[in-house]
Amino acid sequence: MIYDNHNRPITYLRLAVTDRCNLRCFYCMPEEGINYLPKQHLLTYEEMERLVRVLARLGVSKVRITGGEPFVRNGLMDFLWRLKAVEGLHELHITTNGVLTAPLVPELVRMGIGSVNLSIDTLDRERFRTITRRDELPAVRRTLDALLEHRVPVKLNAVVMEGKNIEDLPALAELTRHHPVEVRFIEEMPFNGEGSHYPVLHWTHQRILEELQSLYPGLEKVADAPFSTSTHYRIPGYEGTIGIIAAFTRTFCGTCNRIRLTAQGTLKTCLYDNGVLDVRALLRSGADDAELTAAFLKAFAHRPKNGFEAERHRSPVTESMSTIGG
Ligand code: GTP
Ligand code: 5AD
Ligand code: SF4
Repeated sequence: MIYDNHNRPITYLRLAVTDRCNLRCFYCMPEEGINYLPKQHLLTYEEMERLVRVLARLGVSKVRITGGEPFVRNGLMDFLWRLKAVEGLHELHITTNGVLTAPLVPELVRMGIGSVNLSIDTLDRERFRTITRRDELPAVRRTLDALLEHRVPVKLNAVVMEGKNIEDLPALAELTRHHPVEVRFIEEMPFNGEGSHYPVLHWTHQRILEELQSLYPGLEKVADAPFSTSTHYRIPGYEGTIGIIAAFTRTFCGTCNRIRLTAQGTLKTCLYDNGVLDVRALLRSGADDAELTAAFLKAFAHRPKNGFEAERHRSPVTESMSTIGG
């Protein structure tokens, strides 16, 4: 296992397979979208598989596939089967918006997917259309139903936004009454292609908690998994749990075990950094596995202590989450 310069193990890779998306979420990109990468700038599946093999030898045992929306890239299922076979990789997970996912759920189950994190910011069709600028809630609900039917571990992601979905918090929380899901309420970050929407964040993790406590005075704290970004609660008697992710306040950096590869093959050792290594250039210049390993180890030995330190060393955050993978 490799430890970084702050004694945190690096065991978790978030791998973005595309920067393209079939939604236009308010918190992720402007209505007109972003300039997508030309195809030759994306890592190929072969390149990604090779990088995962190299990282698995260094102790990365968990990969989460992200995007953009992963399922808009052709050939993703074949790639996932190949990753499942990588020695040392014990867990494969995916984060999706669920628009195209429902028909693929049985195959994901056969493959042994660890969990699916599904973005769903509201259960109201009109508000969903306003937030995502597409009328796709029915397709997302079909994915949720398929995941529940096949007993896939599911986490539901809702970014909490003033004036957009505050009235949805109770309905989302109620999903935990009869379903063994984790509903996570997420602080909005300025990764939307334009920069921060607000002078100060209205819906901090504390305010989200206060709102939930006023809705459910019995809300109880439950244990958090190691390395978790979310703080967990349960409404007494409910099957599922509620999580709050302080993504902007960054309360969990002390246990951060994550690295990221963007769709164009940039290594990020913190979500808030500006990219620390052009892995694609290294690969395409003919680097062998030993050279890739050495470059990764050097980057891991220089990780920022937290997201604030990472942010201090760059221009203000404006990029779209779609180009990073979340
Ligand atoms: P698991 O812990 O594997 O379940 O993944 P996750 O919950 O971190 O992944 P997911 O893709 O569902 O992301 C949920 C939210 O957490 C998104 O808003 C992410 O951007 C945010 N997030 C994930 N990792 C980090 C991180 O390392 N730092 C910060 N600040 N936010 C993160
Ligand atoms: N702030 C917080 N979370 C975001 N996500 C996307 N953009 C943002 C943002 N600006 C979340 C979505 C998705 C996950 C990968 O990242 O909820 O589920
Ligand atoms: Fe890790 Fe950076 Fe996220 Fe903190 S903000 S948890 S250091 S990726």
